[in-house]
Amino acid sequence: MGFGTLRAFEDEARARLEPAHYDYFAGGAGDELTVRANEAAFARLGLVPRVLRGAAKPETGVTLLGSRAAVPVLVAPTAFHRLAHPEGERATARAAAAAETVMIVSMAATVAVGDVADAAPGADLWFQLYVQPDAAFTETLVRRAEAAGCKALVVTVDSPVMGLRERDLRNGFHDLPEHLCCENMRDGAHGDRVRPIVMSPELSWEDIDRLREMTALPIVLKGVTHPADARLALDHGVSAIMVSNHGGRQLDTVPATIDLLPDIVAAAGGAVPVLLDGGVRRGTDVLKALALGATAVAVGRPVIWGLAADGERGVTRVLGLLRTEVEHALTLCGCASVHELEPGMVRRTC
Ligand code: FNR
Repeated sequence: MGFGTLRAFEDEARARLEPAHYDYFAGGAGDELTVRANEAAFARLGLVPRVLRGAAKPETGVTLLGSRAAVPVLVAPTAFHRLAHPEGERATARAAAAAETVMIVSMAATVAVGDVADAAPGADLWFQLYVQPDAAFTETLVRRAEAAGCKALVVTVDSPVMGLRERDLRNGFHDLPEHLCCENMRDGAHGDRVRPIVMSPELSWEDIDRLREMTALPIVLKGVTHPADARLALDHGVSAIMVSNHGGRQLDTVPATIDLLPDIVAAAGGAVPVLLDGGVRRGTDVLKALALGATAVAVGRPVIWGLAADGERGVTRVLGLLRTEVEHALTLCGCASVHELEPGMVRRTC
């Protein structure tokens, strides 16, 4: 299959997936303004290259919370990989390991995090958590992530309730088919029943404090968009901040993450790394985010398209394409490493 670009993977995925499942992966909340804004905002930014800097093959690796990523492109946590491919999260994890990058395993994965780890020895896994109102069950989830060898907890805080995804409402898609479930949500008792994921509007910074006391794992706060919350996150001892609007799936009309990034970077003041996801589709997008102060980015839907198109191989290709594009763009920008990118190399063009 001749997949030369991420777009080709999306086309192939659309052709292969059931329409309602494609819509679940592709769609967002409300009018999908935020979904579109994430990509459009990258397109409005230009890269201003430097010349004659004598740079050899660029160094793309970054170290992040003790994990090493050969390219600053992580796999964002996305639910339900077995809807896209029978191997599901196992295939994604093997591809992430081969690409030498971090996979953030969703709490809503269709393979239990321990089984994902077993399927991909050597993978750097982080675990995404929605803090559950049942504190004991939250602790069960944290211990499972620790036992699986996950190196960080990514706590998603942009979901006090589920976003209103109109494609899903229209398609009547509200749950996994019978043969699949959110394997991390098994009770461990009571006949090992699968609990529903509860999104609670009552969560507060105290829950982050409790989590901090519960585990030695670094905590990444995912879904920070307001600089005041970035400052609070520092007060509450988080190890990294992830600027994310959930790929436009929660509150519609949240601005594009790349436009929100500079204020969050300023608020973080270099105290912790800042990550970003949302709309990253090209190596040049990665460079723009890093130039504006992100330590790394993550990709959500492109990984799903790779998985749906060609399983592990597809995800490997998607991550490989992004790596090639990042290296190429760095060379064209006269950068010997990602650390040479700086805000002056990004210009708003329209
Ligand atoms: C997500 N996202 C997400 N985030 C999270 O914290 N837990 C989750 O279970 C999921 N599930 C999920 C499913 C699907 C189908 C998508 C598309 C997204 C959000 C995800 O981590 C990330 O923020 C966005 O996907 C980034 O935007 P792009 O790269 O998809 O544009």
